[in-house]
Amino acid sequence: MESLSFAAADRAVRYAELVPQLEALFEGEPDLIANLANAAAALKECVTAASWVGFYLRRGDELVLGPFQGKVACVRIAWGRGVCGTAAAEARTVVVEDVEAFPGHIACDAGSRSEIVVPILRTVGDRAHVVGVLDVDSYRPAAFDDVDARGLEEVARRVAGLAWPMV
Ligand code: SME
Repeated sequence: MESLSFAAADRAVRYAELVPQLEALFEGEPDLIANLANAAAALKECVTAASWVGFYLRRGDELVLGPFQGKVACVRIAWGRGVCGTAAAEARTVVVEDVEAFPGHIACDAGSRSEIVVPILRTVGDRAHVVGVLDVDSYRPAAFDDVDARGLEEVARRVAGLAWPMV
């Protein structure tokens, strides 16, 4: 237990350090793709368990692959399909400890064992819109927990402040 909680504390610190790093990267740069590309690179270094880190952008009723770090990945995911489509359609973070136990999981990399997907929400008036998702995969089973959910949700809030097209 001790080493587990140490690991969790370490991850929480790493996410807390990542947020100002992202703010500095985004500062003064209006281009969404450039900022997402740097965010994916910074996330890949921060999240040591990650085999793949990237963004899917909403395009109508699909998610389309955006900037990422890792192996080549599925380009289009239907709204509501897979872990990404579920997180988008339900506007909530989805943590999957075992991808083989998640009905409809889309296997872009056969080595992937666990996954977390966080929606990127922009508020217009009093309504929140999902404009994309942040997806992180791992070759380790159950690599992600509440610490990652909280950390990545904070990242998603910062990323949501970028110049997203409203769809
Ligand atoms: N596994 C995801 C697909 C995207 S890849 O993991 C990069 C899913 O089920 O939605």
